[in-house]
Amino acid sequence: MDHWTTSHDRVLAQRHAEGWMFLIEAARDIRTTGAIAPSSTALARALTEPVRAQAGRPLNILEAGAGTGAVTRTLIGQLSPGSRLDIAEANPRFADRLHRLAVTHPRLAGHGQQVHLHTRRVEDLDPNRRYDVVVSGLPFANFTPGQVTTIMDRYLQLLHPGGTLTYFAYLGTRRARALLASRAQVRRHQAVEEVLAAYQRRYATGCWTVWANLPPARVWQLTTPQPAVPHPARAEAGARR
Ligand SMILES: C[S@@+](CC[C@H](N)C(=O)[O-])C[C@H]1O[C@@H](n2cnc3c(N)ncnc32)[C@H](O)[C@@H]1O
Repeated sequence: MDHWTTSHDRVLAQRHAEGWMFLIEAARDIRTTGAIAPSSTALARALTEPVRAQAGRPLNILEAGAGTGAVTRTLIGQLSPGSRLDIAEANPRFADRLHRLAVTHPRLAGHGQQVHLHTRRVEDLDPNRRYDVVVSGLPFANFTPGQVTTIMDRYLQLLHPGGTLTYFAYLGTRRARALLASRAQVRRHQAVEEVLAAYQRRYATGCWTVWANLPPARVWQLTTPQPAVPHPARAEAGARR
């Protein structure tokens, strides 16, 4: 058996194991797990676009809700020297897997300190840290409008001015819920979409549909405003006063 075959087999076995782990965690708690399978490579790439757009710059990055690490692996592959990746994962079983990923990833050999795992909800992170990029994998469609507001406000607080947040929403879930769930659940989901729409109107700088994912997903990119640069003449007048 050649080297390619064995490493390819290892990747397939790993994906298979991650698929099962996701299913088991979804059966345990579908509300916070929010999916029955990890994100595809295409979705992971779309979510991490702001990191590639700033390739070579040392960045502080936060990934919230990393699951089995489908997006984490893409992020690690893009970490430039001097960058730091914080991961907030609420489920301790997923966190164990992410820990193993961080200590065994060949890109991190000798640079393990670039990745910091926090086994806790993103809401409970230190609010004083600042990030250039936040990548969210949280299943907002399963949360209450109040929880979504709390988390979105926290993301915006954690970003440097001009920093970027990406998150995704599966397509068609509201329609599926309208057929299968109670009226209260449908109303809750609609209210969550309205909350997110208000943030999108204010901060959205990009939106893509990723068809190569099960189910297909829409990725949103939001950017916090840069502080206004004073007009040179006005700044001079202000300094003379
Ligand atoms: C839909 S999965 C996404 C996993 C992974 N990012 C992916 O794309 O395959 C959502 C993840 O968010 C985690 N999660 C849910 N609520 C959370 C919270 N408040 N803070 C941190 N992680 C949370 C879940 O445990 C789960 O791992």
